[in-house]
Amino acid sequence: MRARAAMLMEPGKPLEVDEIEIDPPQHGEVLVRVAAAGVCHSDLHYILGELPLVTPAVLGHEGAGRVEAVGPGVSDLQPGDPVLFIFRAFCGQCYYCRIGRPALCDYGTPIRTSGRMFDGKTRFHLNGRDIHHFLNVSCFAEYTVVPRQALLKLPADIPLDRAALVGCAVTTGVGAVLRATRVQPGESVLVLGCGGVGLNVVQGAALVGAWPIIAADINPQKLAWAQELGATHLVNTRERSLLEAVGELTDGRGVDYAFEVIGHPETIQQAYAATRKGGTTVIVGLAPAGSQLSLDLLPFFREERTLKATLYGSVDLPRDIPLFLELYRAGRLKLDELISQRFSLDEINLAFQALREGAVKRGVIAFS
Ligand code: APR
Ligand code: ZN
Ligand code: ZN
Repeated sequence: MRARAAMLMEPGKPLEVDEIEIDPPQHGEVLVRVAAAGVCHSDLHYILGELPLVTPAVLGHEGAGRVEAVGPGVSDLQPGDPVLFIFRAFCGQCYYCRIGRPALCDYGTPIRTSGRMFDGKTRFHLNGRDIHHFLNVSCFAEYTVVPRQALLKLPADIPLDRAALVGCAVTTGVGAVLRATRVQPGESVLVLGCGGVGLNVVQGAALVGAWPIIAADINPQKLAWAQELGATHLVNTRERSLLEAVGELTDGRGVDYAFEVIGHPETIQQAYAATRKGGTTVIVGLAPAGSQLSLDLLPFFREERTLKATLYGSVDLPRDIPLFLELYRAGRLKLDELISQRFSLDEINLAFQALREGAVKRGVIAFS
């Protein structure tokens, strides 16, 4: 079949939207008609060449859609079923899946590293040239082909554009608070970087009753949004020292938990410095390939600090994603409020421009 898709032809260039040829789903694969795709900073890292990627590739890793057709061997999904894309396809059986850490499963790794399906071929082609897959999803396209293991079936009542955000930002951000750490009511939290993912760390912290919830960013609009999602204190780090502000709010100690949601060594250092003795720094942002962090090990030891990373919010995907949707239904998790702007696929470069300028909470590519 033919369908329109947004491709990164080479790093550093804008995306190109064109009609591509899509092969039918092979054994264990599913053809999905994409309904909505979120515009996440991770894609931007690849567009800018900060992370390695096999190109040309159809980007997009946060999205939802409906099953159009299933390949041989797929018996538990039907055409028309609403589905969420999982950018870490997981097998459900290995050690990591069994201990509730499916994001660490290696099932989808060959597809993500080669940009090709398990048979070594791509399902996307442009004028006879292979176009690669991206993070085993590639949802910046009207249709995409993914392994069955990259999909979770969605309940029928969740609007697909709202559900799409659960594919990355919501799960990563809320999971960072509920699963990567176990923040207790009354514990202090700093969220450094309040973009689409950071706002979800803020709402996760509000959900568990953290206090204070200190939102820090260089963009006042992001801080205003953070306040709407539950931040109790705001710090514009362009205008004042983060350490000073955090010190004032925590009796000079520093916070119990600092979440870095930008992906820069400098801001990771800043977050680390803002924690108290015995405190925990959580790296949620994805730093450019090759970047390093230097740590003075003696105070690290003596002050009993913890530094940890979280991938996909460290959640148990098949258990926690239905829980997050349940919390949305119950009005305890905000999804409607996260989308500030909708774009068509043809406007995708505008959507990334808006992300770079800090003009959106979460932008969503809406497919008709
Ligand atoms: N200090 C404070 N805030 C900053 C700084 C800085 N030096 N630099 C950027 N920011 C803020 C931006 O103003 C923005 O609000 O960080 C936020 C980043 O948000 P988005 O661009 O919306 O990115 P998002 O999609 O939330 O992803 C954030 O998480 O999953 C990773 O790959 C993703 O590394 C990325 C990070
Ligand atoms: Zn993402
Ligand atoms: Zn597995």
